[in-house]
Amino acid sequence: MQQLTVELADRSYPIYIGSGLLDQPGLLGSHLSGKQVCVVTDDTVAPLYLARFLGSLAGYQVEQVVLPTGEAFKNWSTLQQIFDGLLAARHDRGTTLIALGGGVIGDMTGFAAACYQRGVNFVQIPTTLLSQVDSSVGGKTGINHPAGKNMIGAFYQPQAVIIDTDSLHTLPEREISAGLAEIIKYGLIRDRAFLDWLEANMSALRALEPSAITEAIARSCAIKADVVAVDEREGGLRAILNLGHTFGHAIEAHQGYGRWLHGEAVGAGMVMALELSRRSGWLSQSDYDHAVKIIRSAGLPVAPPDNMTADDFMRLMAVDKKVVGGQLRLVLLRQLGEAVVTADFDVAALQATLHSEYPSEPL
Ligand code: NAD
Ligand code: GLY
Repeated sequence: MQQLTVELADRSYPIYIGSGLLDQPGLLGSHLSGKQVCVVTDDTVAPLYLARFLGSLAGYQVEQVVLPTGEAFKNWSTLQQIFDGLLAARHDRGTTLIALGGGVIGDMTGFAAACYQRGVNFVQIPTTLLSQVDSSVGGKTGINHPAGKNMIGAFYQPQAVIIDTDSLHTLPEREISAGLAEIIKYGLIRDRAFLDWLEANMSALRALEPSAITEAIARSCAIKADVVAVDEREGGLRAILNLGHTFGHAIEAHQGYGRWLHGEAVGAGMVMALELSRRSGWLSQSDYDHAVKIIRSAGLPVAPPDNMTADDFMRLMAVDKKVVGGQLRLVLLRQLGEAVVTADFDVAALQATLHSEYPSEPL
C-alpha cells in the first residue's frame, strides 16, 4: 500500500492506494470517530460492492443511501435523498458519511457532509479511475445547475481517501479512458517527465496492469495534493487543474449531462486549450501534435462535438467559475509541463480555436 498526505495543517488527511483496501476494515475504522455511518453509493456500484463493504462495518449503526447513477442526477433532488436518509435514521453530528463510488457520488456526498447539521465528517472511497486520481482529493464538492456544471458547492475536505485499485476491474473501458484524461492533464500542466512516462506506458495503463496503474494514480494524487496544499480554495495556482475544463464543461452542458463523460469532454477540451496555446505562440506544432497523440492514444475524443458552434462555446463558457468581473480566464500551456491561468489571450486566437478543424471525428 502507498500512502500520501494532503498537507492542510489541522485538516491534513491521508490518501491510501493499494489492492484489496476495501477489505481492510481497520483502515476505514481508524477514520471513524462515532458509531453512526452513512454509506452513499449509486445503483451501479451498489450491486458490485455494497454488500461486501457493509460486511466491514460490523458494530456500526449503518444507514445506506443508494442514488440513481449518473451525472444527470447530480442535482438538488438527488442530494435531498441523502438528507432524507440521514434524518430518517436520526444521524447526529457525530455521523460519518462515506462516498462509495465515482466522482458524482464523491462530489454529492462531500457536499451533503458539508451541509448536514452544518458539517459532519466524511471519507472518500473512489471507485472510478477519474475519482481516484482527481475528484476524491482536494475537497471540491457540489452539484450541477442546469445553467452550469458544479455551480453549487463547497470546499470541504474528507478525513481520508481510500483507493482500492481492484475496483477498477469492473469499470467499462470508456470510463478508464475518461480517467486517463485527468492523468494526462497532470503531465501537461506540471510534469513533462510524467507525460513521457504516460506515453510509454499507455497500453499497460489501458490494460490496468497493476504496477503501472498504481504508479499513475500515486503520481497524479501527489501532483494534485501539492497544488491543493499551496492553494486550497483556488485563489490562484489551483486553477491550473482545470486545463481543458472550461471548454469541456461547455461540451457537457451543451450535450446534456451524462452524454459525454466528464473525462471525454476534458480530453477534447484539452485539445482545444492546446490549440489556443499553439495559436498564442507558446506551443510548437510538434509539441501540440505530440500531446494530441497521447490524448488520442488514451481512447479519448480529440475534437469537440460537431453540433457545437463557436457561439455555443462562448455562451456556455461565460458561466465558468474562472470568469471574474465578466472576464474569461483560461488555462493554457507555456510549454508541455507548464501551465498558466490567463485572461490575457488574443480574442481572435480564441475565435480561431473555436472555428478550427480538429484532427479527428468527434464522438
Ligand atoms: P461517475 O461518478 O458518474 O462514475 C462513472 C460511472 O461508473 C457511473 O455509471 C458509475 O456508476 C460507474 N462506476 C463507478 N465505480 C464503478 C466500478 N468500480 N465498476 C463499475 N462501474 C462503476 O463519474 P466519474 O467519472 O467518476 O466522475 C465524474 C464527476 O466527477 C463529474 O461530476 C465531475 O464534475 C466530478 N469531478 C469532480 C472533481 C473534484 O475535484 N471534485 C474533479 C474531477 C471531476
Ligand atoms: N479538478 C479541479 C480541482 O480539483 O481543482
